[in-house]
Amino acid sequence: MTRRKIIIDCDPGQDDAVALFLAFAAADVFELLGITTVAGNVPLELTQRNARMMCDIAKVDNVPVYAGCNRPLELELATAEAIHGDTGIDGIDVFEPALELADGHAVSFIVDTLLKAEPDSITLVPTGPLTNIATAIRREPRILPAVREIVLMGGAMREGGNHSPSAEFNMLVDPHAADTVFNCGRPVTALGLDVTHQVLSTRERVARIAALDNPVAAATAGMLSFFHRYDSKKYGSEGAPLHDPCTIAYLLEPNLFTDKLVNVSVETESPLTRGHTAVDFWRVTGRPHNTRWVYAVDADGFFELLTARLARFG
Ligand code: BDR
Ligand code: CA
Repeated sequence: MTRRKIIIDCDPGQDDAVALFLAFAAADVFELLGITTVAGNVPLELTQRNARMMCDIAKVDNVPVYAGCNRPLELELATAEAIHGDTGIDGIDVFEPALELADGHAVSFIVDTLLKAEPDSITLVPTGPLTNIATAIRREPRILPAVREIVLMGGAMREGGNHSPSAEFNMLVDPHAADTVFNCGRPVTALGLDVTHQVLSTRERVARIAALDNPVAAATAGMLSFFHRYDSKKYGSEGAPLHDPCTIAYLLEPNLFTDKLVNVSVETESPLTRGHTAVDFWRVTGRPHNTRWVYAVDADGFFELLTARLARFG
């Protein structure tokens, strides 16, 4: 079987880190061309270091990790240490990774890779603010034909916002970039809070992962145990939403998810609702659909998939 070529663009973040682990655990399905990092949950110096740490923990040394944009296109950077801790990946001990940062800017890597690629051949998987992806598209629109699909974590409809009353974090941090990506003309699949809030890392689910007893599972359980605290308190839920791994799980087992083709427009101006994703779920605007909006998931199936894949590191 031909493996699906992907680039993961991320801002680790505990949940980004678990998304990376899940992708590493599916090397039979994915050809991971590179990991590009962006400022988001924590500043860029930490997101790129954290991505390299995950490679080290999983013993992945053949995937380049690039550093990209250190701030959003037009706004000041807003980070989320209150949720992720000062390191971005609180819950495990931080170390200086052996894997070195790849030379060059993440945006140049994305542009160069896509310009050389066959049409419809590369899937972009952004799990942070969309600054790197939008910068690449704006700088070199000729990359677009090579994009097979963009499967991103971001946005919210029924759930409202998590960092403002109406905006999800990745959209809020860089709404201008999000606007570019949703309207780029290539297939976009969005997994926003409506679906990720159904995927809760309950104590029981985390305990099952911890019991796998391998370094990647242990790191996952450590990070999720930390992640748990803030969100459980905030939402009064049994566990934290495992946002970013939903993207990789969707690519691995789309049948676990339910979606609908809709138009998504991003608010870029209003100080009150900046970053809001206006999802035309009932198709009342007549705007053409630009997004596959994922809104439901079999959460038990998701955790079975994650646990089974993480067991492979044993
Ligand atoms: C998104 O924001 C970050 O906190 C997470 O890593 C995820 O990508 C959820 O709103
Ligand atoms: Ca993220």
